[in-house]
Parts: sequence; structure tokens; C-alpha cells
Amino acid sequence: MSYDRSVSASDRELAPETVWHIDMPEIRFGRDATDELAFQLRDLGVEGAATGLVITDDGVADAGHADRVVAHLEAAGLDVDCYADSEREPSIGAIEDCLSFVRDQTDDGYDFYVGLGGGSCMDTAKATRAIVANGGSPLDYVAEPTGDGQTLTESGPPLVLLPTTAGTGAEISPVAILSVPEKEIKEAISSNHVRADAAVLDPTLTTTLPPDLTARTAMDALGHAIEGYTTHEYDSLLRASDPGERPVYAGRTQLTEMFSEKAIRLLSGSVRTAVHNGDDLDAREDMLLGALFGAISGLTAGASLCHAMAYPVGNKYHTFHGETIAVLTPASTIDYNSASDPARFAEVAEIFGVDTSGLTDREAADALKQAYIQLQRDLGVLPSGLNELADITEDDIEWLAQQTVDTQERLLRCNPRPVTSDDVAAVFRDALHNWEE
Ligand SMILES: [Fe+2]
Repeated sequence: MSYDRSVSASDRELAPETVWHIDMPEIRFGRDATDELAFQLRDLGVEGAATGLVITDDGVADAGHADRVVAHLEAAGLDVDCYADSEREPSIGAIEDCLSFVRDQTDDGYDFYVGLGGGSCMDTAKATRAIVANGGSPLDYVAEPTGDGQTLTESGPPLVLLPTTAGTGAEISPVAILSVPEKEIKEAISSNHVRADAAVLDPTLTTTLPPDLTARTAMDALGHAIEGYTTHEYDSLLRASDPGERPVYAGRTQLTEMFSEKAIRLLSGSVRTAVHNGDDLDAREDMLLGALFGAISGLTAGASLCHAMAYPVGNKYHTFHGETIAVLTPASTIDYNSASDPARFAEVAEIFGVDTSGLTDREAADALKQAYIQLQRDLGVLPSGLNELADITEDDIEWLAQQTVDTQERLLRCNPRPVTSDDVAAVFRDALHNWEE
């Protein structure tokens, strides 16, 4: 089986796409940008002594960030409750817990919401705000057959997100990812109504992130940047007859290319320092900016094979997303996909800092793979392959490959090189051991 990249037959004309667009929250970036959160909320229409909810988790609260945000908002004349029970990789039940908190505390929800933390906290905030505004429960808005596939029609009151990690891109993305434990799958509530109204990115909130989490989230960000740079071009799709029917992952454009290029330079240039010297604010700033730029590219142009393969691994073995992306990238994004366009990957190699002088495009792409693996080794906290990640062996590969083609068509269809289930199995096999432990 292989996938073409066409939009659905009912929504296309037989002509190439000629238009792209980009939706983004307002973005406020820089050291101590947290101190402008109240201004940002007022700018979004929050008036008077409004009452809001800060959604975070215990780790972020323990680091003092929640107290800082609450004190700042109260000083600006706003009332704030704090929900610090967000779960890592939130389940449907975790979102329902947060919804119950809101419904217990208020008649019809808060006047504003703030999501503070990693991707899990931000996704909890996005899903909670959307469901309070639209009514019902999380599964109402998850796609069929897992959920009811209802459409969100309301965004709700202002939502501002403050990431404390540099990687997921949840602060700008239009999805909230939720796990469904009884089915061992992850689903998403996906809509422009889920997207935050503003993202406040403050590198001083990221210095408390330990080395392992810094490395994982950085590799996720680097994955978004490289996948975004190397995915198909937007005009390789057929034109959508209705502008509202363009796919979320619409292919690369000159804008996404520009953001990817800068993201790869920032992330590959500063990740070693950020991991080994977490207090280095210059490196932290580079990481946060690189992650934002990687997300603007990758989460618009489209993630591809690597992300498609990472979801079944994460669902079954409960591995960290960024660590899974790190382990799979050499075999999938670089090795497998570069065969379709070695020149494109030679460009990535150069941006990544590889000396490509005198190399053919194929040799440069191979050198990129080696440089990427060396980077992971230098960080000292990432697993050497799927085997070390979760004891995955040859016996597990057939199931993982089948799950990938059965459940990840949305991403596989975006891949720049056609993919069969045998291809996916071969890539999983290549990723068992990226280096000798
Ligand atoms: Fe990702």
C-alpha cells in the first residue's frame, strides 16, 4: 500500500494548489516576557477584575513558575485560580478532571485561561477551554470512530500559553493531543478553535528544565524543523475547491522554509550548551526561539514519516515523544526520505553545520545522518536506538509497522517519499541500534 498526497477527491479541482496561508496566535517573545502576560490578556479583551484559571502541573508549580504567574496577574487586578494537576500526556480522564474543576468552581467557565508548562499542560488548557465553551465531553470532539467527531464552533474566552519547555510547539498548534488508555492510542481534538489566542515565550521559564527533558524536547523541535524543510511543496497538492478544506499539513512554502532553516541553525548550534549548562540563558533563548520556528514550519508544512512511526511506539511503550523522534529520525527522516531528494538533504546538512565541500548530495545526506547521531551522543542522555528506548526487538517490528500504516495515514500521506508497510518495517529495523551502546 502506498499513499498519494492528494486532498480528498470531493474537495479538489484537477489543478495544482496555488495558495497557502498560515494561522498563528499572537506571539510575544523574550526574557521576562512573563511580566507582560497581564498586558497580553487585557489586549485580548479581558476587562476589570476578571477571574481566570492557570492550568499547570506539580513540577512546574514546584519550580515556582505558577506562583510567579499568579502573583503577576493578581498584581494587575485579576483574580486567579490555579489547577496544578495536569497529567503528562493527558488522557481523556485527565481532561475530564480539569473540566470538573472548572464546572465546580464556576457557573459557565472562567473569563480567561492560561496554560503554563510543557506540551501536556498546554494541551490540557487548550482542550479544557474549548470544551467548556462548546459543552459536552472530550470524546464528543475526537474524530470517529474513537469519538463522535463533532465540530467545535466556539473558541471561548482568551487563552494564553506559556511554554516551560522548548520543543513541542503546542503553544501555536491547533491540536490538543489526548490518550485513550483503554485503546492504547493517542487521539487529538483538532480545530482552529483549539489554538491559543496568544503565546508568551520567556526563556527564563525554561532554565529549570533538567538535561534529559531539555534534550528530548530539543530533538522533537529539530524533528519539526527538518521534517518541515524536507516535506513536499504546497503546490504539489491539488487545489482545494474550498479554502476551508485545505489540509492542516499543507506542504512547505518559502515562509516555512525560512523558519526551518533558522530553527535548524539555532537548535543544532545551542542544544549542547543548553543540555550541559542549563543556566546559560543565551542557549535557552536560542532553544526556545528555535523550537518556535521549528513549530511554525513543521506544524504548518507538515510532519511526516518519523512522527507517523513515533505515535505507535509512544502509545504501546509510553516513551517520551521527543526521545522517540530522536531515535527514529536517522533511519526515517534522513535515510529513507533523502533517497527521494538527496539535494534537499545536502542543504540540511550544510545548515546543520556539516562541511559538505567536495561531497556529492548523497554523501552529504549520509554525513548529515552521522552528524545528527553524533549530536545525540554528545548530549549523553538519549537512548542509542529503539532497543535501548523500550527493549524493542525484531519481534515487535511487524506489529509496529502495521499500526503505523493502519493508524497514521494522515501523516504518511504527507511523506515526501511513498511508503509501504514493508518500507516502514525496514525503517523500524534500521532504528533498533543507531550506535553501539
Ligand atoms: Fe513532535
